[in-house]
Amino acid sequence: MSNLNPPRRLLFGPGPSQVAPRVYEAMTKSIVGHLDPFFFEVYEDVRTGLRAVFGTQNSFVQVISGTGSAGMEASVANFVGPGQKLAVFVGGFFAGRIAEMGERHGATVVRFDMPLGEAATETQATEFLNRERPDVVAFVHAETSTGVLQDPLAITRPAHAIGALTISDCVTSIGALPINVNAAGIDVAFGCTQKGLSCPPGLSPITLSDAAVEHLRARTKPSSVWYMDLKLLLEYYEGAHRYHHTAPITSFYALREGLALVCEEGVQNRFDRHVRMHQEFVRRIEAAGFRMFVTDPARRITTINAIHVPDGVDPVKSRKALVDKYGIDIGGGYASLANKIFRVGLMGPLATMENVDMLVDAMVECIQ
Ligand SMILES: Cc1ncc(COP(=O)(O)O)c(C=O)c1O
Repeated sequence: MSNLNPPRRLLFGPGPSQVAPRVYEAMTKSIVGHLDPFFFEVYEDVRTGLRAVFGTQNSFVQVISGTGSAGMEASVANFVGPGQKLAVFVGGFFAGRIAEMGERHGATVVRFDMPLGEAATETQATEFLNRERPDVVAFVHAETSTGVLQDPLAITRPAHAIGALTISDCVTSIGALPINVNAAGIDVAFGCTQKGLSCPPGLSPITLSDAAVEHLRARTKPSSVWYMDLKLLLEYYEGAHRYHHTAPITSFYALREGLALVCEEGVQNRFDRHVRMHQEFVRRIEAAGFRMFVTDPARRITTINAIHVPDGVDPVKSRKALVDKYGIDIGGGYASLANKIFRVGLMGPLATMENVDMLVDAMVECIQ
């Protein structure tokens, strides 16, 4: 085998996003053991940074060793099981995944299906939840597959009114969009590292409200998954530091530095920068004749822009031309949106005015 030499790409897709040089550098540092006091210092720095991006003072802020789907499975498996009803608001691919996990973990799953490109309103959520009376309610904050941003309170308010626990997939929002988990009424929130935090994939941050922690402590039957049993994880990361699994040290170094960059920029400044770049991108791409997939501007994710594939355009050829000419990687649609939309990410180090200009020019040239 010759030396590894990955192609240089500009990651303007829905994730993974571009990784900053300081994060790469952190990944070259010597690893320590997974029980070394230095590792737990790094872990505490990570928790501090995560509180800032989740917008919470929750005492339970932890990290699952695995990608966003691992956080999703941890959230489902620790709070949902046989004899319980899980309601899922489904407006795209990833909410469908939560519903499937709920079924696999033995819950009765009821879905509120929304037209693609739309979010649930509080009136719809109230009517549905009052009728179904689930124990747990799950939704996706920022649905990557469609570019739709869900207002959490529209779901969490009626969910809490019937005494249900709420789970929010924050995989696409963490690090680039405000979440404010407690004000948003979210009991269980999970994220990833490879989108708004601009780190490599591999870890899934998770936070629990005090009410969710109480549920966890009250469990008498262990969770159906061992690896992502949050009670066991607590014994490793807090208190006794009892061995649970060999934490991926290098990924934690990367996440620590990624979060340090976010905090140095200022969390609110970072959110504001993403909003500005999104607005400029929309202005320029619409001026070039493209149409946004999500029609209500207030319901658009600011970091992932879903755009209709114009009539007569070959999306696969167009994306290939962007990669071949400029190394620009944008996303397509999948499932029922395959070949119907492009998904353009503007996240982290790539979310700058110069990049918006360069990207729109390249898209206008290559998409045909
Ligand atoms: C909203 C959402 N949820 C869950 C996932 C799954 O995350 P991962 O691919 O990191 O397992 C993704 C991945 O893109 C996502 O966008």
